[in-house]
Amino acid sequence: MSQFINSRRPRRNRKSEAIRAMVEENRVTVDDLIFPMFLLDGKNQKIEVGSMPGIFRFSTDLMLKEIEECLKLGIRAFDVFPAVEDQHKDKTATKSYDPNFFYLRALREIKKQFPEACIMTDIAMDPYSSDGHDGLVKDGKILNDETLEILGKMALAQADTGIDILGPSDMMDGRVGYLRDVLDKNGFMEVSIMSYTAKYASGFYNPFRDALDSAPKFGDKKTYQMNPANRTEALIEAQLDTEEGADFLMVKPALAYLDIIRLLKDNSSLPIAAYNVSGEYSMIKAAALRGWLDGERVMKETLLSMKRAGADIILTYFAKEFASLTN
Ligand code: PBG
Repeated sequence: MSQFINSRRPRRNRKSEAIRAMVEENRVTVDDLIFPMFLLDGKNQKIEVGSMPGIFRFSTDLMLKEIEECLKLGIRAFDVFPAVEDQHKDKTATKSYDPNFFYLRALREIKKQFPEACIMTDIAMDPYSSDGHDGLVKDGKILNDETLEILGKMALAQADTGIDILGPSDMMDGRVGYLRDVLDKNGFMEVSIMSYTAKYASGFYNPFRDALDSAPKFGDKKTYQMNPANRTEALIEAQLDTEEGADFLMVKPALAYLDIIRLLKDNSSLPIAAYNVSGEYSMIKAAALRGWLDGERVMKETLLSMKRAGADIILTYFAKEFASLTN
């Protein structure tokens, strides 16, 4: 038998379930989760997203039922995205601030029925844009400052429905400060901003773009979303968003960017959110459906990795499944 150099035996702290639980450093709870959901126009519609097994697009009536079920499971925060029909898309995303458009009406209805639920919305032009870009397109370029004006109208229209948190996902420069200013000037001081701070130009968004039919009609998003090769640049974004008044900073995607989550956590006093995006969900589901991975176990391990990296909040399509398992 070989001699130990000292008598430390880390395995003692792993010897029973009770001790393992006692020394557990990180835990995911439903309180940490925000459930992203896809909204459809119409009635009695529930359509599964082909590339996201178990995730559906709901019309308002059925989304209300879904939210009610989720609230019973302990999920209290939801991020609602609209799937807009082509006929309603145009260059300037007009429908995004039309108070009669189904998305804004649905938000109002959701807040009316469930005032206790925390409802987050998305600020970006892509679901409503005939170009499929997050900003205004002119001669093949994405205009920054002109986009802010549209985002401002969108923010006011969404705030007016009574929602709790705005999520600017567009990556235009200066938008957090611009939106904060517009909101405050119009009396919406209490509406929070969760900024998509370090949002990368990622291949992991494809299933989301299927869900909303919102893929860019030309080119890619590399002139506004960050280069996956960059780390330090996330600190510039974080500093600006903080100065401009963001209440939360988000890193997106999460799994391939755990180092960025940790970087922001170590350099900011604001709560850090991680967006466990569509492609990360689909990867696990696809492997689990083939029996290649234990889906449940890998889901929990994945969410835990985000907590361990420093995420206070996780936006995840697994929210309902996680809540059903841990309830
Ligand atoms: C668009 C937006 C995207 C996501 C959230 N808001 C896609 C994109 O930037 O193309 C992706 C979310 C996901 O993949 O789950 N502004």
